[in-house]
Amino acid sequence: MGDKAKKRIFSGVQPSGHLTLGNYLGALKNFAILQDEYDCIYCVVDLHSLTVRQNPEELRQRSYSVLALYIACGLDPEKNILFIQSHVPAHSELAWVLGCYTYMGELGRMTQFKEKSSKHSENINSGLFTYPVLMASDILLYNADLVPVGDDQKQHLELTRDVAQRFNNIYGETFVVPEPYIPKQGARIMSLQDPEKKMSKSDENKNNFISIIEEPNSIMKKFKKAVTDSGAEIIYDEANKPGISNLISIYATVTGKAIHEVEKEFENSRYGEFKMAVGDAVVAKLTPIRIKYNEIISDKDYLDKILRNGAERAEEIASKTLDEVYRKIGLVRP
Ligand code: TYM
Repeated sequence: MGDKAKKRIFSGVQPSGHLTLGNYLGALKNFAILQDEYDCIYCVVDLHSLTVRQNPEELRQRSYSVLALYIACGLDPEKNILFIQSHVPAHSELAWVLGCYTYMGELGRMTQFKEKSSKHSENINSGLFTYPVLMASDILLYNADLVPVGDDQKQHLELTRDVAQRFNNIYGETFVVPEPYIPKQGARIMSLQDPEKKMSKSDENKNNFISIIEEPNSIMKKFKKAVTDSGAEIIYDEANKPGISNLISIYATVTGKAIHEVEKEFENSRYGEFKMAVGDAVVAKLTPIRIKYNEIISDKDYLDKILRNGAERAEEIASKTLDEVYRKIGLVRP
């Protein structure tokens, strides 16, 4: 295990659609908060996206787009390592090894696998099944102490921990066993039209999600149309009022207020007024990000330079871990 002055963070985002308010509140917002205290590595996990059919040109563009969003959300490319997963071959290489230490039964239990295979029943490929192994390899290659993610990635993190411990038990201390960092608020933002379902960037119905770089008018329209519940009170009750509870969560996370403060603030308001207040707060939060994103997204030279530098720094750490693993399991090194 390498020497580290600060504790290390690793996290990743798939370039599989327009990043949403859910991705922002569950993950990206926290990436930026953690960057001073930790040594951070943030990855655009393009190989993970291949588990679902992608349009090649769009995939390429979206990988740049995720990088630009990392920066627009406040990540400093000097301070943090920002890179694309496929630029560091050690991710795929370690994934092969770890796959030999992960059981079919464990992978078959993953909720995301079950959900994605029912959604893409025409394409239940083996990559979809072994997806969590590649994710474990992302994290373990860098000996990350902490992994900031939304609630939906918790199960994958648990599997990563199990695989790391299993490997360490056989070969001696090799991997740091990582902890998840799941925010208290905003870890599970729901769809605006169907609040029983997670807000997802690959949703076909665009009214279900807010994209991070969406124009204010469109954001306001979507909040106006957001599904609410019967009754008139603005109170947090996930089981009986999923729509209002989701809007309360969004407002609370965006403004940094506690749920009970939000309930108090809107105790005399109607649903319509509340929805507009949520829209306004989201617009205020996302506008500076959209402006910064638009400034940098067409500057491919700038983005490519960050990617080259990021891949180089990531490679240096990753190749050491991979080499240690290869030696421990008995592969002959050149
Ligand atoms: P992905 O690309 O689906 O999502 C990126 C991050 O956003 C979080 N998230 C949400 N948070 C709150 N509410 C939502 N509705 C919501 N939707 C998504 C996710 O939890 C995630 O933190 N498997 C990962 C990518 C990955 C990864 C890794 C993450 C690959 N390797 C290593 C951490 C470490 C994924 O599909 O995230």
